[in-house]
Amino acid sequence: MTDYLERNREAWTKANEEYTDARAGEAWAAEEITWGMFGPSDSELGVLGDLAGKDVIELGCGTAYFGAWLAKRGARVTGIDLTPAQLETARRMSAETGIEMELIEANAEDVPLPDESFDLALSEYGASIWCDPYKWIPEAARLLRPGGELVFLCNSPLAVICSPDTPDGKVGERRARPLVGMHRMDWEGEDEGTDFHLPHGEMLRLLRDTGFDVEGLWEIQATEGAETHRYYDFISVEWARQWPAEEIWKARKRA
Ligand SMILES: C[S@@+](CC[C@H](N)C(=O)[O-])C[C@H]1O[C@@H](n2cnc3c(N)ncnc32)[C@H](O)[C@@H]1O
Repeated sequence: MTDYLERNREAWTKANEEYTDARAGEAWAAEEITWGMFGPSDSELGVLGDLAGKDVIELGCGTAYFGAWLAKRGARVTGIDLTPAQLETARRMSAETGIEMELIEANAEDVPLPDESFDLALSEYGASIWCDPYKWIPEAARLLRPGGELVFLCNSPLAVICSPDTPDGKVGERRARPLVGMHRMDWEGEDEGTDFHLPHGEMLRLLRDTGFDVEGLWEIQATEGAETHRYYDFISVEWARQWPAEEIWKARKRA
């Protein structure tokens, strides 16, 4: 196992004990599909479109509230996650709500499922930041049918370069690290774990070289009335009103 997989599994086991299990009920019950910490709805942004009858794989599905939102709209959802505790919560929620999905323990960089079996590969802060993009994006391409869509949410490169190495890691108004060479980041302290981020030009090249055409990049700012997130408070709402804190990429596998 690559060292960051073990490290991230430990971090997510701890997160499950601390808050993800406790908030799963509320998250699964939400009526709207919302994006990220500051919550614009998918109907406002128009990212996902019609989901009915689609075969969807969520890469790094966590407690699977996002997968549940898709399943409620008629998608057949498969969730992949590295952390048994997260999958346990997802299985319990699925049993409690009757919202069915297939849940598989695996590394999203190497998924034990056949080529070309999905119409949509999605990641909401799953593989999109916790996996090496040079591994998980080619893997998503392999899993998608020709013409299939890849949609993922991650932190904006701007937020990442403004993230200092201080123990609280709060995103500030000054650049704290280079954009050049941005890729793997090992965090210590409260937000322990390893994640991955790429500058826009590099992400565009990777998507193109992996067989995708990019159809959209939504840079998300805080919506009117949004507040600093209850759990993910390393970016304040004041910051996110001025700069895009998060972004959604949408790409289509060339037929
Ligand atoms: C923020 S949570 C995802 C939340 C999810 N969208 C939901 O609806 O609950 C991130 C998840 O990524 C998972 N993860 C981290 N590294 C992974 C990997 N290499 N393969 C699969 N999942 C991974 C973690 O275990 C964690 O459950």
